[in-house]
Amino acid sequence: MRIVVMVSGSGTNLQAVLDAVRAGRIDVEIAAVGADKPCRGLERAEAAGITTFLVRPADHPDRTRWNRALQEAVAAHAPDRVLFAGFMRIVDAEFVEAFRGRIVNTHPSLLPSFPGAHAVRDALAHGVKVTGVTVHEVVADVDAGPILAQAAVPVQEEDTEAQLHERIKAAERQLLVDALGLLARSVPAR
Ligand code: GAR
Repeated sequence: MRIVVMVSGSGTNLQAVLDAVRAGRIDVEIAAVGADKPCRGLERAEAAGITTFLVRPADHPDRTRWNRALQEAVAAHAPDRVLFAGFMRIVDAEFVEAFRGRIVNTHPSLLPSFPGAHAVRDALAHGVKVTGVTVHEVVADVDAGPILAQAAVPVQEEDTEAQLHERIKAAERQLLVDALGLLARSVPAR
């Protein structure tokens, strides 16, 4: 399964996928890694010798044209699936349609609870005792697509957002690699 991975941040999920691919644990080829801004995730890809690309909103006159540029950049690598691994941008309906049923996102909560950009903070603020991580298919509505896999993570009494997010990310890396491994056994027609 050829994938393009999109990142915006530290890229620890990407690293878990890179490591699993390199170890031959999943039947996945990372065709390219893209980002919306310079970030540690892109550096990790470069260090691993993977092709990278950067499509910055600031370099495009509006959101629609940024979406089309991103779509082209992803499509150029002919991926079977596109993975959003800490990609902190919302893509438009046309982008989702272009890769329909083939975009996978990882999100740090048990969806449908706590969608959006501050899932860990929102879960803590709500006072839930259990949160977790969801790997799901991307649809036009944000954080709303069919759920592929989930793992629960207990919230501890004194948890800060950073501490809780770190424990979620530990579970997330494992879940994401396992989910990709399963998906690689059923690659959809392009
Ligand atoms: C991950 O926890 C991912 O689920 C989250 O950002 C983190 C990225 O970490 N994504 C979102 O919140 C998307 N709404 P990483 O850059 O170290 O992989």
